[in-house]
Amino acid sequence: MFITFEGIEGCGKTTQISLLAESLSRLGVACIATREPGGTAIGEAIRAIFLHCSNDDMLPVTELLLVTAARAQHIAQVIKPRLSSGAIVLCDRYIDATVAYQGYAAGLGRETVMRSHDLFAGSLMPELTLLLDCPVELGLARSRKRNRATGKHLDEGRFEDRDYAFHEQVRNGYLEQARHEPARIELIRAEGTPDDIHQRIVSAVLPRLRGAGHAV
Ligand code: TYD
Repeated sequence: MFITFEGIEGCGKTTQISLLAESLSRLGVACIATREPGGTAIGEAIRAIFLHCSNDDMLPVTELLLVTAARAQHIAQVIKPRLSSGAIVLCDRYIDATVAYQGYAAGLGRETVMRSHDLFAGSLMPELTLLLDCPVELGLARSRKRNRATGKHLDEGRFEDRDYAFHEQVRNGYLEQARHEPARIELIRAEGTPDDIHQRIVSAVLPRLRGAGHAV
């Protein structure tokens, strides 16, 4: 089963992926956690170009081509082989991020993003997407605090540095995607303690795993 985590900056995806991976391991379910852009050596090299603050003149179409290239590599080298071996793949961002950031907020449109996914990434879609939704003020406050403490904003802060309106468009893009595909995308309220949010995620994931034949 292929499960993706999505949401605006600072929605808490990364923490929630580790918590879910731990819970699944305790239940004896094999899973791996990976991320986009990234997840392979080439994908991580693309990520460094994609997110570095010095590249703030990057065109939206260049962004689309870079994340799509990283994704094709990731699907072939990590996602498909792991799914074939029976593992659950938990991925930090995937195609819905491209739709929300490049399609909606950067203006390329959903159609163009989905067409490039079909052409170059074999149209592989997750079975379940957890969309961690919180107000933009809350997400940005969390991510700016964290990134300034770690220095991450210099190497990986290109999107975080965009204005409030951009992030509001990203959030709206995600919510629009959830309206398009309610069966795949589960909206998770990303406010409260990490444990509150984890419980909401577990309640969304376990019935799906049982439906897919896992004894959990
Ligand atoms: P992420 O690693 O989730 O950063 P953080 O944990 O700090 O939220 O995501 C990296 C950034 O890349 C994020 O700003 C969103 C952006 N992104 C896109 O614009 N398009 C994409 O297709 C993907 C996968 C990510």
